[in-house]
Amino acid sequence: MKLKINNLSKSYGLHSVLDGISFEFESGKIYGLIGKNGAGKTTFFHCLNGMIHRNCGEVVLTADDGSAQPLSQRNTGFIESTPVLPEFLTGREFIQFLIDIQEEKEKFSIDELFEAVDLNRKDQEKLIKTYSHGMKNKIQLLTLFICNSPVLFLDEPLTSLDVVVASDIKKIILKMKKDHIIIFSTHILQLATDLCDELVILHDKKLTLLDNRMLNNKNFEDEIIQLLKDDGDAEICESRF
Ligand SMILES: Nc1ncnc2c1ncn2[C@@H]1O[C@H](COP(=O)(O)OP(=O)(O)OP(=O)(O)O)[C@@H](O)[C@H]1O
Ligand SMILES: [Mg+2]
Repeated sequence: MKLKINNLSKSYGLHSVLDGISFEFESGKIYGLIGKNGAGKTTFFHCLNGMIHRNCGEVVLTADDGSAQPLSQRNTGFIESTPVLPEFLTGREFIQFLIDIQEEKEKFSIDELFEAVDLNRKDQEKLIKTYSHGMKNKIQLLTLFICNSPVLFLDEPLTSLDVVVASDIKKIILKMKKDHIIIFSTHILQLATDLCDELVILHDKKLTLLDNRMLNNKNFEDEIIQLLKDDGDAEICESRF
């Protein structure tokens, strides 16, 4: 399975954020997306699955048998950095509802799902609007497991999870990579080295695939910082002159 992006551009008014990006992601690998605050990572995810309008470009999901379909919210699972959930339901009500609308609902055990993200029964029965950020992230993760979309976008998914759950979730994400295309953005470089097969940098409105030998390099962190810093200096120069 492949996700092919061809000539994707996005501007907000006159502010260009993504400029002519062409790239190919494949299943079986976890891609780490790294970029400074405001580089356009969230915009990139939203443009790919059609949550926001793109100025131009095509995003196509190609199966191993060659059949192709445009990427949309229907074939994408998404953990938003700011969770969007039905706050008027309890966590348990929402997850039960999601299970009930699946074709093969009998394959899910709601208790096992909640156990996987370590959310106890008392918390499951509270309204989502009273949840902490990390608890909302856990509910979002469960939606990924249940809907099982072929493409998964994780926008800073582990940042607000406690260390125990983050470690469990890392293991689950690793298990899912075989038959999914997984792209996750993070500012935590250690996480990128732990989890990713490939690193992609979003800078200067373009995506660049880094040589993945860098992941094992002891100067990895300094090199990434230098790359992103150089980019920042260039922007500052441009805006001054
Ligand atoms: N709805 C919007 N309208 C106008 N400009 C926007 C909008 N959303 C994002 N931007 C701008 O687009 C640029 C990219 O923002 P985006 O949120 O995609 O960055 P990001 O890489 O996800 O940042 P962070 O690491 O802080 O999450 C920023 O300059 C931001 O101000
Ligand atoms: Mg973002």
